Amino acid sequence: MTSNEWDAQAYDRRFGFVGRYGDDVLDVLDAQPGERVLDLGCGTGRHAAELATRGAIVVGLDADPRMLAKAAADHPRVTFVEADATAFDLAQLGSDRLFDACFSNAALQWMTPQNAVLRNVRSVLRDGGRFVAEMGGAGNIAALDEALRAALTELGFDEAEIVSNYFPTVGVQSLALEDAGFRVELAAWFRRPTALGPDTTAADWTRHFRSAAWASVPVHLHERLAAEVDDRARNGGLLTANGWVADYCRLRFVAVAR
Ligand SMILES: C[S@@+](CC[C@H](N)C(=O)[O-])C[C@H]1O[C@@H](n2cnc3c(N)ncnc32)[C@H](O)[C@@H]1O
Repeated sequence: MTSNEWDAQAYDRRFGFVGRYGDDVLDVLDAQPGERVLDLGCGTGRHAAELATRGAIVVGLDADPRMLAKAAADHPRVTFVEADATAFDLAQLGSDRLFDACFSNAALQWMTPQNAVLRNVRSVLRDGGRFVAEMGGAGNIAALDEALRAALTELGFDEAEIVSNYFPTVGVQSLALEDAGFRVELAAWFRRPTALGPDTTAADWTRHFRSAAWASVPVHLHERLAAEVDDRARNGGLLTANGWVADYCRLRFVAVAR
């Protein structure tokens, strides 16, 4: 299941860059009118809606009802399905036909066990179907997580409350895709230092994407936790002349169902 309490409004308002950075992955997919496309971990539906605009027949799948409620409200003509990516099948997608492609942005790193997810994706794709995705890669937001870990420890709380995402290397993810029945055509890891914007600090990022860790700390200590996280993130080099920058690393791949 998804291991974060997603705040759909804040996700779009404050962290909209996550979705925007996925826009050119749509161009890599290059969905054609009439193609059946699954958007895995669709969140608030930005890419599913764009795929529909381009003429694809889209199903957006997500495990979080709040993200899906916003997706459905913002994009009423698109089909969204609540399901867990680790356990879904064609029937749950309301389909009796295999898909031509699966798209996913910034979502696979939340889905474990990953091999179950990749197998499920393979099982709903026709032979030759494309799986085009971008996700967190090895080393992603290491400095942000380290700042939160150190701050929790300083305040006497358990750093184990921080969810550990699946941030694979090119090698690990390529092998996992091959094991699940894909041929990998492209896999690339790259750094993407990402400006958080004028109103968002490192602590704000952790509050949104590491909500379970924050929930483990009593509310009256949240201000102190925020200050401790920001102190450490500043020492870790995340506060630049241009404001707070998150140390994102991404992994992008194109795989074809064998
Ligand atoms: C960072 S958001 C990305 C949303 C969207 N793809 C975008 O680009 O804006 C990650 C999404 O993955 C979903 N997710 C996490 N684990 C999941 C799982 N096991 N099954 C389905 N969705 C999951 C979350 O609910 C969340 O909406």
